[in-house]
Amino acid sequence: MELSLSFGPFSLLFMILVFSIGNTSIIHASSDSYLTLDYYASTCPTVFEIIRKQTECAVLSDPRSAALIVRLHFHDCFVQGCDGSVLLDDTVTLKGEKTASPNIHSLKGFDLIDGIKNMVESECPGVVSCADILTIAARDAVILVGGPYWDVPVGRKDSITANYALADTNIPTANEGLIPIISKFMYQGLSVKDMVALAGAHTIGMARCENFRDRIYGDFRATSGLNPISASYLSSLRSICPPIHGGENNITAMDNVTPNIFDNSFYHTLLKGEGLLSSDQEMYSSMFSIQTRELVKLYATDPLAFFNQFSESMVKMGNITNSESFANGEVRKNCRFINT
Ligand code: HEM
Repeated sequence: MELSLSFGPFSLLFMILVFSIGNTSIIHASSDSYLTLDYYASTCPTVFEIIRKQTECAVLSDPRSAALIVRLHFHDCFVQGCDGSVLLDDTVTLKGEKTASPNIHSLKGFDLIDGIKNMVESECPGVVSCADILTIAARDAVILVGGPYWDVPVGRKDSITANYALADTNIPTANEGLIPIISKFMYQGLSVKDMVALAGAHTIGMARCENFRDRIYGDFRATSGLNPISASYLSSLRSICPPIHGGENNITAMDNVTPNIFDNSFYHTLLKGEGLLSSDQEMYSSMFSIQTRELVKLYATDPLAFFNQFSESMVKMGNITNSESFANGEVRKNCRFINT
């Protein structure tokens, strides 16, 4: 586990937080995983092409699809590793992760993965795991909206279990503080650098009022200052999201400048103090943001540094391994159900 954080007196607090999250011995992000680039070279040589074409159709018909797929991959990997557990539907014998609090009414795009899986199955039945499909599609989605390319190691197995409780505890939420969020990434073997770069995925996609209400009626004005442009942005956000009840599912872009383009403008919104989610703005404005603030500044000024780190961190996140799924996992026929 890479512990590249230097908060001096806070280090003990970190360790307590890191080890109080979740409870499983099977998770770590590593570069020495069993995944390889050519895993499907002989069994399904066209898999990358099929997934790219399908993802392209989805993103062309709705650019938000890119965001949905990338987020699905993130929520998959943070719960018992990248093993397709997030894709499982509830059944009489299995409680899935879709209704856990960070996911319910929020995680979308399952139908897009079903569509890709159907195409892959018709070409190479029973060969390519849903976890791999999701990982490859996330990379393709990023490219399609202007982001960087990276090679995707493959060979993941699909889990025969899901974990609702871990979905509740492991996935960071918008109103959590910076330190608990950092500890959730560290628990997965991801560093502060990984976290700040991966949060850059918020350069695409939308958030619901429920997740930014406290922020826009809280410290938004304080972080963004009193300039008229920020004030008018704030009032438009407030018109979308009323202070008390109603409008919970109203949405707005997290990067209001280039919402459908994968660029570094998300970090510029943080420099302006206009981050939509409290968790994002904290990376720049929190009293604990000594290290994260420098990274936000770096990625705002150097788009290439952001792209390089994002690619590297996506591979690292995609490599969060699950020895349980590797040993007992399968290639699901249908991503929503374990094989009978
Ligand atoms: C750093 C901690 C993170 C927190 C606290 C967080 C939280 C959130 C929240 C609250 C939303 C809005 C959901 C809604 O309102 O329904 C969201 C959306 C999103 N998140 Fe994150 N996230 C984090 C990291 C990440 C990472 C690492 C990725 C991927 C690499 C990611 C990708 C996305 C995307 C693409 C969306 C937009 C989805 C859409 O349009 O529906 N997030 N995130």
